[in-house]
Amino acid sequence: MSNTIVVAVSSQKGGVGKSTLTVLLASYLYYVKGYDVAVMDCDSPQHSLDGERKRELSDVRAIPHLSKMADELKEQTGKRPYAIMKAGLGEALDKVQLYLDRYEPDFLFLDLPGTINNVHILNIIANIHHVFCPMTADKFAIESTIPFCRYLNDRLISTGLGNIKTVNVLWNMVDSRERTDLYHAYDDLMEEYNISVMKTTLPASVRFRRGLNSKEKRPVFRSTLFPPDKSLIKNSGIEELVAEFLAITGKSDG
Ligand SMILES: Nc1ncnc2c1ncn2[C@@H]1O[C@H](COP(=O)(O)OP(=O)(O)OP(=O)(O)O)[C@@H](O)[C@H]1O
Ligand SMILES: [Mg+2]
Repeated sequence: MSNTIVVAVSSQKGGVGKSTLTVLLASYLYYVKGYDVAVMDCDSPQHSLDGERKRELSDVRAIPHLSKMADELKEQTGKRPYAIMKAGLGEALDKVQLYLDRYEPDFLFLDLPGTINNVHILNIIANIHHVFCPMTADKFAIESTIPFCRYLNDRLISTGLGNIKTVNVLWNMVDSRERTDLYHAYDDLMEEYNISVMKTTLPASVRFRRGLNSKEKRPVFRSTLFPPDKSLIKNSGIEELVAEFLAITGKSDG
């Protein structure tokens, strides 16, 4: 049996940071921590991660300062970029199985669409190991995430009907100067419902939008080809997030 841990950053709400966190986790685990990872982009039809990887590869080929950065990273780590594959929702589990028949990465990430009514999503989630739900402090995100997590806990995890072991809420885009009372109120509510909330919170910060820059040489934070630059890591929450992610998935010793 495969030892790969299959995870999804998932939410019923769009724009809460699923794809961003998938890239950040995958790249940090792979390029910095030395874990083997692969990503399956199941968010069709846009397939934004697959598109991002293709754009990044073409920028790296065309732009001298990015080629140089890529050569340096290759020299330091000896690594080629991790795989990013595309799948439709209906075929995702089959594609995962086919991939795991041939490869055994430490982690396989699924990027799922932020839609509510799709028959395939629950089936996918039932058959993977861990779900991470980014949540932002807006009414729609909260009102969709809490029932979603309760459903997964009550119907799939505590009944043992699925393979899924944990579902974890992660506060994203947190403005720490504001609304701490609101965050605490929702934390209390989620505790009451036995929903696990990660200790790590991720700040609202422009660096999360900072990808490869083709015009000038600036440190990159979010990229499928590079790890987040050291100068941008402080106070980003990424190190804490990765440590907590590894503890939850039981891979802390890698
Ligand atoms: N902590 C953060 N601080 C600031 N901006 C962020 C943060 N996290 C994500 N973003 C930005 O929010 C936007 C939405 O993020 P992302 O595309 O990852 O969300 P998503 O949940 O995958 O959306 P979709 O449902 O459309 O797939 C992006 O522009 C991203 O750069
Ligand atoms: Mg997305």
